[in-house]
This record gives sequence, C-alpha cells and structure tokens, in this order.
Amino acid sequence: MKQQTGTLYGIGVGPGDPELLTVKSARILSEVDVVFAAASTKNDYSLAVNIAGPHIPKGTTVRMLQFPMTKDKEETRTAWKTHAETIIAELELGKNAAFLTLGDPMTYSTYGYILKNIQEIAPHIPITTVPGITSYQAAAACINMPLVEGEECLLVVSGVNGGDRLRQMTMKPENVVFMKAYRNIKDINAALEDASGFTRCVGVSNCSLPDQKIYPDTREFNDRSPEYWTLIIAKQSKNHA
Ligand SMILES: C[S@@+](CC[C@H](N)C(=O)[O-])C[C@H]1O[C@@H](n2cnc3c(N)ncnc32)[C@H](O)[C@@H]1O
Repeated sequence: MKQQTGTLYGIGVGPGDPELLTVKSARILSEVDVVFAAASTKNDYSLAVNIAGPHIPKGTTVRMLQFPMTKDKEETRTAWKTHAETIIAELELGKNAAFLTLGDPMTYSTYGYILKNIQEIAPHIPITTVPGITSYQAAAACINMPLVEGEECLLVVSGVNGGDRLRQMTMKPENVVFMKAYRNIKDINAALEDASGFTRCVGVSNCSLPDQKIYPDTREFNDRSPEYWTLIIAKQSKNHA
C-alpha cells in the first residue's frame, strides 16, 4: 500500500516576539516532524527559527535551507526548486513539515516561491498556510498609529528601488508602507517629500525584537542606512487626505 504523504504547513512566525505567533501556528509546530527555514549561504542562522524556538519541541528536526544572496535569477530559481524537492522528499516519507517565514508567509516571502514549486512538482501534496502578523501591522501597533481609517487606502510597497513605485502613482494613497527600506532610504524620503503631504514618516527597526528602535522622522537616514529589518510608515496629514 502506498504511504500517505505528509502535509506541508507554511507558518508565519510574526515579526519577532514569540508571543506574536498565532495559537494555531504554535500548535502545529508542537506536532510536526520536521521544521524547515531559510538561511543564507554564509551561515545557518535563521531569525524565524529563533522566534519560533519556544514553540518547537526539543526532539523536532530543524533543517536550514541555504538560499544564495544573489541577483542571478537562474541561481535563485535553482535554489527554490532544489529546496522544494528536499521538502517534498520528507513529505513523501509521510512526515508532516513546517516551513517558517518571518511575519506573514504570503507577504514578500520566500515561502511564496517554495509554495509554487511544490504545487508544480508535486500537486498531490496537501498544503496548509497559516497567516502571521506582518511586520507593518506590528510596527503600526508599536507606534500606536492606525494604518487606515474611514475611506483611506494603504499602499504596501518594496523600497528596494527606492521611491520609484510611489512616484509612478498618479493618485497618491493616504498611507504608504515601505518594506525593505534599508538600502535606498534616501530616495524613499525624496519620493515622499516630492509627493507632498506626507507629514509623518516613521521608521521602525527590529519591531517587537529586543533591539527594537523607533525613528520618528526618517529624514535622519539621509546620511546613513538603517539596519535590514526596517520599514517605514508614511501618512498624509488629514488636511491632505
Ligand atoms: C522579505 S520582507 C519579509 C516581510 C514579512 N514576510 C512580513 O510579513 O512582514 C523583509 C522586510 O520586512 C520588514 N521587516 C520584517 N520584519 C521586521 C521587523 N521585525 N521590524 C521591522 N521591519 C521588519 C523589513 O522592511 C524587511 O526589509
């Protein structure tokens, strides 16, 4: 008789504080046979594993999947496929496995690519994705700043190419979240300034982690870059909304 395949659980571990991981994710982590997490090729460190650590029983196998930090698309695609195959191999043995992601698995996450590859290579495998609290939800909470109110809208955008995505928008949203704001923050600031009306531009680094920092005015980053785990929440003043 053919062995039943295990289930893959995509788990969002939240922004950093282990208490911000959902009850459902904690329960699944206490039950799975294997936990996978992404790491860089330079070391085996995973912030997601650290966050989820208190919820992973001692005997559970934790496997790091090393992803190259490269702009080479072919190399990246190969890594997604290879890692998807590694996960599938465990699931085909009948083991249940979790793949950890920081924040939410469906928001700017490697999990999305792993998911697509597994669905393509082994469409019979059951997959359950458990949402997590995103970093920007946690950041809004930590600065006590509502993200959207009334009829307002919110743009969530990557800051990898600086402020370009905001510049491209003819109608500027009342609220903007810039993720991956660490590298081109000077240009993000310039785009927010050009758009005019963004009177509150707050940076949050390492949100809900022990070294959390709040920067009430992101212009302080015009001369230096913040750390990698930094995002910006920018709001137009009510007069401009
Ligand atoms: C690849 S994205 C991951 C997003 C994540 N899946 C989420 O739901 O928040 C990485 C970016 O998320 C933001 N980020 C993630 N965790 C953060 C935290 N604890 N504090 C501040 N920013 C964070 C930063 O902008 C970082 O550059």
